[in-house]
Amino acid sequence: MAKLLIRGGTPLKGTVNISGAKNSALPIIVAACLADGESVLENIPQGIDVYTISMILKDLGAQIWFDESKRLHVIPDGLDRYQASYDLVRRMRASFYVAGLLLARLGRAEVPLPGGCALGSRPVDYHLKGFQALGATVSIEHGYVKAEASELVGTKIYINRSSVGTTMNLMLAASRAKGTTLLENAAKEPEVVDLAIYLNSMGARIRGAGTDIIRVDGVDSLKGTEYSIISDRIEAGTFMVACGITGGELLLANVVPEHLRSTIMKCEEAGLEIEEGISEIKVRANQRPLAVDVETAPYPGFATDMQQPFVAMMAVADGTSVIRETIFDRFRYVDELRRMGADIKVERDTAIIRGVPELTGAPVEATDLRAGAALVLAALTAKGETEISGVELIDRGYEHLDKKLRQLGADIERISDDCEESLMEHLTPPLMERL
Ligand code: EPZ
Repeated sequence: MAKLLIRGGTPLKGTVNISGAKNSALPIIVAACLADGESVLENIPQGIDVYTISMILKDLGAQIWFDESKRLHVIPDGLDRYQASYDLVRRMRASFYVAGLLLARLGRAEVPLPGGCALGSRPVDYHLKGFQALGATVSIEHGYVKAEASELVGTKIYINRSSVGTTMNLMLAASRAKGTTLLENAAKEPEVVDLAIYLNSMGARIRGAGTDIIRVDGVDSLKGTEYSIISDRIEAGTFMVACGITGGELLLANVVPEHLRSTIMKCEEAGLEIEEGISEIKVRANQRPLAVDVETAPYPGFATDMQQPFVAMMAVADGTSVIRETIFDRFRYVDELRRMGADIKVERDTAIIRGVPELTGAPVEATDLRAGAALVLAALTAKGETEISGVELIDRGYEHLDKKLRQLGADIERISDDCEESLMEHLTPPLMERL
């Protein structure tokens, strides 16, 4: 398993290129398989989750590969299998998007129930309810969700609570259903809008994405096209906080500032100086961060994926902050921050953080993707050396995080254990050559 070794204390300085959004890439790669003909996707981050979803779709019969200029080609014409690989799907919850794809394309789907993860139980009951509303029969047998529909018929679907995955999955299924589907109480995340724009560029007829009512007029077919996905607002937010925690000065390039509004507001409250351009953001931090209270919420609220990196900065802030997590059960990583000297108390969905002047390096373990990022940020300011294990979790959602940080002056190195190559190396070659 790979590890990161970080010696803290260096303020980050320089320009960082923000990669494409993982949470756009995953549904859009799946959506490309709804079409007839090739799609060419740009700005796709080469992280482990992108490899996993690509391997699942290849296993179902699609052709997927990165060309030499890192554009992802998807040719779905050979996609004719409706049973997704148990081993691959269980690695990543977003794999459940293939259920919407297979139902819409083949009228049949057998997809393993995505397991829970470090964020607590993550049911898919809203997804299944939506598929049934569209006319599918759905059952759960031997750990598989089995769904079948001779024809999907548009209808009105109220989604119990704002759910990115449910909104995406039902958009996929409804795009090729007969008639009109209304998704009410839909998620408004920028990645939902990105998916809708891509589907429309393929001939779908989706209106209202970005609001809480999305109208989908089903069409008989979609055709492959070229598309460039949006930049990753969570990666951008993570680097903004990295600047705040190390007292540096960064230029974030290739970002969409309006997707970061809540993070920018909270970082400014914490004392960071932020200057927005059209597609870049300048961040400067020349004082200890100030304690700030935060409550996570669906977009445009403060993103739950930013909670963990932000808590790392509050751990060294001047004062006490209260962070309430309303989306997931995701404070397990706080135990690891405590090993570094953080003074945090967690009561149900709320963390009370008493900022300390300094953290100290320690051996810690990433429990999930964003927890891993939080530990990296804490290590960047901690006195002495921190060894972080579970780096493959960080590689799931950040493209070359350690390399980007090193280029900004961080003292960080990756140690990979020879006996186990990370999923990334294992999956890269099959995607680097055309079948
Ligand atoms: C997406 O997860 C993201 N993942 C998550 O990012 C992100 O934290 C989350 O949205 C919230 O913004 C991807 O896009 C691949 P939800 P998703 O459905 O779709 C409950 C990261 O680090 N719920 O919006 O799984 C659910 O338990 C990841 O990049 C049901 O109860 O999240 C949660 O409490 C972590 N039943 C709430 O809704 C359902 O059928 C919102 O979850 C579906 C969801």
